[in-house]
Amino acid sequence: MSEERMVTVLVAVHAPEVEAAAVTVLGAQPQVTVARRCAELAELLAAAEAGAGTAAVVSGDLPGLDREAVARLRGAGLRVVALEDPATPAERLAGLGSDVVVAEGDMENLVAAVRGAAPEVAPPAATVPDLGGRPGTLIAVWGPSGSPGRTTTAIELAAALAGVGAATPRRSGLLRRSRPVPPPNGARTVLLADADTYASSVTSRLGLLDDAPGLAAAARAAGQGVLDVVTLAGHSPVVLPGVRVLTGITRASRWPELPAASLDMVFQRCRELAAWTVVDCGPVLETDELLTYDTRAPQRNGATLSALQAADVVVVVGGADPVGLQRLVRGLEDLRDTAVPVPAARLVVVNRVRDSAVGRRAESQVRDALARYAGVDDVHLVPDDPGGLDAALLAGRVLAECAPGSPARAAFVGLAERVRELVPAPV
Ligand SMILES: Nc1ncnc2c1ncn2[C@@H]1O[C@H](COP(=O)(O)OP(=O)(O)OP(=O)(O)O)[C@@H](O)[C@H]1O
Ligand SMILES: [Mg+2]
Repeated sequence: MSEERMVTVLVAVHAPEVEAAAVTVLGAQPQVTVARRCAELAELLAAAEAGAGTAAVVSGDLPGLDREAVARLRGAGLRVVALEDPATPAERLAGLGSDVVVAEGDMENLVAAVRGAAPEVAPPAATVPDLGGRPGTLIAVWGPSGSPGRTTTAIELAAALAGVGAATPRRSGLLRRSRPVPPPNGARTVLLADADTYASSVTSRLGLLDDAPGLAAAARAAGQGVLDVVTLAGHSPVVLPGVRVLTGITRASRWPELPAASLDMVFQRCRELAAWTVVDCGPVLETDELLTYDTRAPQRNGATLSALQAADVVVVVGGADPVGLQRLVRGLEDLRDTAVPVPAARLVVVNRVRDSAVGRRAESQVRDALARYAGVDDVHLVPDDPGGLDAALLAGRVLAECAPGSPARAAFVGLAERVRELVPAPV
């Protein structure tokens, strides 16, 4: 028999009798070796990352087992076989990202599973009542540092995709409280997610109360393998007609609450809940492994990279001034070199276009600069519109609500049309 078919198993099963039974059965198989019996998750992860096994058998009740842990095991090259137990149903184990789920006591399947002969679990069941079974589209709004207008673009794009119009009823009071509502039936909703781990601002920009961050709550549920579309809807209240919001972390120091392994699942669920998901990303793209020896430490930029990887379209926003344009050119290069695959479908937006910052005929100056230095000849320009944007900022509203005739709003409506052309709407 070939060396490749040798299976080395790390076992981390909480209940002693189940663990003993699994070890006995696996140990009796030809070409199968139980290399380590791990008392806890930390021991399993250490053994996996030291290259001590090719498969891991874990129980759902193993303390600390979540999506990140399973992602680490898989990242170390192990096939993850999860044992169901009464408290941890198969759906939850599948939601954690396990390769195979085996019913407790089903030793025959356990052996097949560690050998790679058992059928792998299907991705967690998708219930897509409002999209006719077709997943929605995800748009990541990214741009280099220097506040070029990522959040403004994300908010206005979401409002434009949802068709928020001037007729939107005004709400009384400056701050509105977000209110969980059930998922709409048949509605083409837009979901706006604030994934900026450096300076989230969607909450205050939309005049929402500083409630618990919805995105972190969704990520927590995903980490536990229990995020379904109804739970996601509960964390993403409707704050404008047709627009749900997953609010961001209230303090930058809370960034570890947005791990990439969990957000991957959140974004998958977003596609089930909404026709369009617009993600406001942080500006930094580096993977922290380059900066630290600890390759398994949480990644501050993991949220941005997860959104970019999940996206169908990336909207890249730069500022229309000499510094902003230079950063945009470099940013487009950085985007090509990211550690994760980023979709080719891009729309470059240059925001706050004004003569005073780049000279006369600002529009053609900006177009020429991007064509010459970045090879981008299709740029979407948004004019500088301090009157409109300041009014929106002051009122905690979108332009459609407080400055419907503003030039920036017209540009963002045009951007939504460009996005629709690039990715036809799923419904
Ligand atoms: N077209 C525009 N005209 C005038 N003001 C604008 C325009 N776009 C954005 N602004 C203003 O510029 C400021 C920064 O915008 P925004 O918060 O969208 O940037 P950002 O890239 O998300 O920044 P941050 O680094 O804080 O995440 C805000 O006060 C916003 O109102
Ligand atoms: Mg922002």
